[in-house]
Amino acid sequence: MPNTIAICNQKGGVGKTTTTVNLGAALAEQGWRVLMVDLDPQAALTAYWGLEGNTPGPTVYRLLLDDSATPAEALCAVRPLIDIIPSDIDLAAAEIELWSALGRERILQEALAPLQGGYDFVMVDCPPNLGLLTINALVACDQVLIPVQCEYLALRGLSMLLDTLHKIKRRLNPQSEILGILPTMVNSRTRHAQEVIEELHSVFGQRVFQTTIKSSIRFAESTLAKQPILEYAPSHAGAQAYRALAQEILHDHRPAR
Ligand SMILES: Nc1ncnc2c1ncn2[C@@H]1O[C@H](COP(=O)(O)OP(=O)(O)OP(=O)(O)O)[C@@H](O)[C@H]1O
Ligand SMILES: [Mg+2]
Repeated sequence: MPNTIAICNQKGGVGKTTTTVNLGAALAEQGWRVLMVDLDPQAALTAYWGLEGNTPGPTVYRLLLDDSATPAEALCAVRPLIDIIPSDIDLAAAEIELWSALGRERILQEALAPLQGGYDFVMVDCPPNLGLLTINALVACDQVLIPVQCEYLALRGLSMLLDTLHKIKRRLNPQSEILGILPTMVNSRTRHAQEVIEELHSVFGQRVFQTTIKSSIRFAESTLAKQPILEYAPSHAGAQAYRALAQEILHDHRPAR
């Protein structure tokens, strides 16, 4: 069984999609087979891989709501070891349409089940809210990775997220756990970012990754180039940081093959 990781934080613009792409690319660089699922109607992950408006098969919206769509036909191979299931704006309607579906919290889990044997890691890029799509990701996953932007009021909203994770674990997915909290967009020139990291450590202890992701314009550039930073600037500190994060995760969660 693959490790299924939801990349989740209801706060917008904290580095969820960037982490999905680059952590996934770092795992693939190590030879692991990776599936990335775009669960955001904004479709930033899909655009990152240059597939926006250009998806050959069904998008995740149809996979969730149309029984005739099969997961295999939704897959898009973007690199030799990386497939994605793309999204588009139609997914915005799913948030409402799923409400009347039977077993509405488990639809993504069911949809992904036939694909489990083909991958070592399945990564789900969540939208910036705690709606039904995010709940589907949290039910489908084994682990949750929480990127936190290291800025003023960074911890605000985290307690609501942790409360939701706790409820999901109790009621819907007892095996889910927090994989780790990832400090992102760390501005090493300011004392403040360091204070936020220290605060994260004092509140969450071991659950904070040792790896931190520094702020760099290279990330925006790599998005425009539609390449992971590991390809766009392979020896840049940002690429090295996502490789280090992959190593931290593999240390405790190496998939059995
Ligand atoms: N470490 C970083 N340093 C500087 N900029 C970054 C970094 N990581 C991501 N960015 C940039 O910040 C913006 C937001 O990042 P990203 O899209 O990954 O966040 P998100 O949490 O997925 O956002 P949303 O909540 O809208 O889905 C993007 O323009 C991205 O290129
Ligand atoms: Mg995103």
